Amino acid sequence: MKTTSVFIAVLAALVMIGCYASLEQYPKEKCGLLPNDNVVKAIHDNCIKCHTKDFKTKQDICARKSMIIDSVKSGRMPKMGKLYDSYKATILNWK
Ligand code: HEC
Repeated sequence: MKTTSVFIAVLAALVMIGCYASLEQYPKEKCGLLPNDNVVKAIHDNCIKCHTKDFKTKQDICARKSMIIDSVKSGRMPKMGKLYDSYKATILNWK
């Protein structure tokens, strides 16, 4: 019994670490055009589960615009996943 719960706790911790991402170390860029609701939705649907604090508000997302576009265009993000083409197009055509 006890070993099982320890095992589950360790497993849960590993999954959380694997999925936790933060862009804090990167300098923010100056926000030009705020993302529209479709862009925000695409990012919230696909990125927030790992980037729990990075993309909360439109301003947060805006300050990462070139990074977001670059990472999606190159296929680095979403990590361990794939974007539907419609989401990808929405993010790459940021308006
Ligand atoms: C499964 C978890 C996961 C998902 C989903 C995810 N990310 Fe990430 N992301 C990470 C991790 C972990 C890092 C930091 C280390 C690295 O680059 O591997 C990272 C780093 C980044 C970086 C900085 C490094 C780089 O490669 O440019 C950007 C920008 C980024 N993510 C954007 C996004 C966007 C945009 C999405 C959604 C389309 C997304 N991420 C979805 C886990 C994830």
